[in-house]
Amino acid sequence: MRYFDARVIENRSLGGGYFVLRLGGCEPLAGSRPGQFIMLRGDWGRDPLLPRPLSLLSVAHEGRADLLAKVVGKGTALMERSPPGSRVSVLGPLGNSFPAPSADVTDLLVAGGVGLPPLFMQAESAAHLGLANGSEMLYGGRTSRDLVLLGEIRGFGIALRLATEDGSLGRRGRVTDELEARLDRGRAAASAQPLRIMACGPRQMLWAVGRIAQSHGIDCYLSLEEQMACGIGVCLGCAVAAQTRPYRYVCKDGPVFPASEVMAHVSVASTSQSRGGAQ
Ligand SMILES: Cc1cc2nc3c(=O)[nH]c(=O)nc-3n(C[C@H](O)[C@H](O)[C@H](O)COP(=O)(O)OP(=O)(O)OC[C@H]3O[C@@H](n4cnc5c(N)ncnc54)[C@H](O)[C@@H]3O)c2cc1C
Ligand code: FES
Repeated sequence: MRYFDARVIENRSLGGGYFVLRLGGCEPLAGSRPGQFIMLRGDWGRDPLLPRPLSLLSVAHEGRADLLAKVVGKGTALMERSPPGSRVSVLGPLGNSFPAPSADVTDLLVAGGVGLPPLFMQAESAAHLGLANGSEMLYGGRTSRDLVLLGEIRGFGIALRLATEDGSLGRRGRVTDELEARLDRGRAAASAQPLRIMACGPRQMLWAVGRIAQSHGIDCYLSLEEQMACGIGVCLGCAVAAQTRPYRYVCKDGPVFPASEVMAHVSVASTSQSRGGAQ
């Protein structure tokens, strides 16, 4: 993990508030794994003061790193307007990662909205390892505008199933409906290959995925998002209730956790959703 300066080399709008920032000068991120993230701050003065956590979407050897973000507040709005050439400060790579793809398991990668990046990187990693046929992505959003980078995902050669709440693309409904349908089909086919679930997205979606996995007895890993001030375990602002300790810190113990570790206090966690923006 290092602090370093990087530059925006491309800023591609995908519509609906989504954009891909391509950074150059990110050699310290080489070897980063799916699930890891960076703290990023633009050259934007004092407001907002704190850097913003963003997952890595893709990291290439020549110091290039791609990030996918959605505008939700001041920090992401400023990032969306960063022209090529802008300087950004980066701290990373931070956090842990999803388990590596394996020939012995079929991975169901469940992405909700802007929770896509770590699962996109996991799919890319499976493709690089020649294990694309052992991964399937289930990707959901409110409307078709929330489903981005579909051509790139298909390019990895993994199976892709889509769901939108308004039915504008893929199955009408939530991505968790698609997950249950997939598990029912798997049960009917009595496939010998064990399944593993990895998910990132809105908190309520993650708890639903965790519950479905538990009810089917499937190993499940959830990548959590919390507001973060430091990203390195100092401010204690990203605590979540856990099974084996009173708290775990999303930045240094996660962001990826076995579902069983963070699902024990779901009712407590899900009542603490309404928060103000970070400063
Ligand atoms: C490990 C990690 C990885 C992330 N990866 C990505 C990513 O790849 N792409 C992406 O677009 N976003 C990602 N996020 C979320 C992103 O950090 C926030 O959207 C961003 O910090 C918001 O900053 P802002 O100044 O635009 O909005 P703010 O003004 O800070 O907040 C605007 C609204 O968004 C809510 N919010 C802010 N941060 C979070 C958060 N972390 N979780 C839930 N709600 C939040 C606030 O409560 C507020 O209602 C990630 C967060 C974490 C912790
Ligand atoms: S963000 Fe500061 S401890 Fe996690």
